[in-house]
Amino acid sequence: MRISQNGLPASLMIGATLALLSGVTGCARDEAPVPETEVAAVAAVEPVLDGADQLTHGRYLVETVAGCGNCHTPHLPDGLLDPSKKFSGPFVIKEPVFEAHASNITPDVETGIGAWSKDDIVHAIRNGQRPDGTYLGPPMSFGWYRGMSDTDVQAIAAYIKSVPAVRNTVPKSTYQFPLTGYGPPVTHVPDMPKTDQVKYGEYLAGPIGHCMDCHTTYVAGRPDMKQLGRGGNVYTNVFNLGVTAVSANITSDTTAGLGSWTDDEIKRAITTGVSRNGRMLAKMMPFALYAKMEPSDLNAIVAYLRTLPPLSAATAPAAKP
Ligand code: HEC
Ligand code: HEC
Repeated sequence: MRISQNGLPASLMIGATLALLSGVTGCARDEAPVPETEVAAVAAVEPVLDGADQLTHGRYLVETVAGCGNCHTPHLPDGLLDPSKKFSGPFVIKEPVFEAHASNITPDVETGIGAWSKDDIVHAIRNGQRPDGTYLGPPMSFGWYRGMSDTDVQAIAAYIKSVPAVRNTVPKSTYQFPLTGYGPPVTHVPDMPKTDQVKYGEYLAGPIGHCMDCHTTYVAGRPDMKQLGRGGNVYTNVFNLGVTAVSANITSDTTAGLGSWTDDEIKRAITTGVSRNGRMLAKMMPFALYAKMEPSDLNAIVAYLRTLPPLSAATAPAAKP
């Protein structure tokens, strides 16, 4: 069994991400190419504009590459997020070893986090710890979120505090293992300048968007940084629908990875979920949110992916969860 950096089977974390997308259409590997109309509908989303103002910036990150609402907002039957219940939970993941309920993170004082300060929210995102000292459990990617810059995590917290309060009681999560935190508490992370496009892309694909959590091969329970972007993680029975998804090799390898893809082909996969050959990808990534990214951010991510050292196809992990 592959165990994630949080000490949990990777499949559980990913299964969670998948389950939250279960409202979206099916995700079989051998599915026929998607009709152009569906692609167009996904691609025609309104972009979210970034800005220097803290709230604008926080909204931009949350509503695009960070995609917090994927877990924290209920999905409508067509897969879109319910605008009347934004960030009010609950997204439930039932696994043998835990039952996680994504919290109501709206400012409702009784059922949400209205009593939390901005700093409390920042600490929860980067360190997985509530103001009362208790630790949060998966599937939030605290291992990557630790690297969020002060400016970005504070903007995210400010935006979360500004959304309409929604009254909705979410049951407590239960984890059948101790939650003991995610390393020495992070209190300061410097800004990541946009001047170095590749470095900024690395930051977006890691601490902000945690792309690399799914796309790095797990060894002995952790993403093996020597196999960065190699993929090959197998997730069985996603959505409990009998579908198996394998994370793609997104290194610059010309055969196994994206080395021979054009930039536009890579962008199309990220923002519409259509692979190079027209196949609709398993709905593990929030394509509709990624589609709202600023072109410069999408370019930075692509530029970063281009720098990933080529790695051959991952050998299929022997151990399935
Ligand atoms: C993959 C799913 C997932 C994603 C993505 C996610 N969260 Fe969470 N989040 C959860 C779950 C599940 C919990 C509850 C954990 C628990 O009960 O221990 C949680 C808890 C929280 C809490 C603590 C609330 C409380 O009442 O204890 C905050 C704050 C929070 N998330 C904010 C965010 C923000 C901001 C983002 C985006 C940067 C985000 N989350 C992304 C699943 C997710
Ligand atoms: C929750 C896990 C997860 C996250 C987060 C995620 N991916 Fe993926 N991604 C996958 C899986 C699984 C596939 C393959 C799906 C399939 O083959 O049906 C995939 C496919 C892709 C592909 C298409 C590759 C191909 O060969 O068709 C690209 C490109 C890609 N991801 C890039 C990204 C980028 C960039 C991000 C972050 C902005 C990201 N992914 C975030 C799981 C994830």
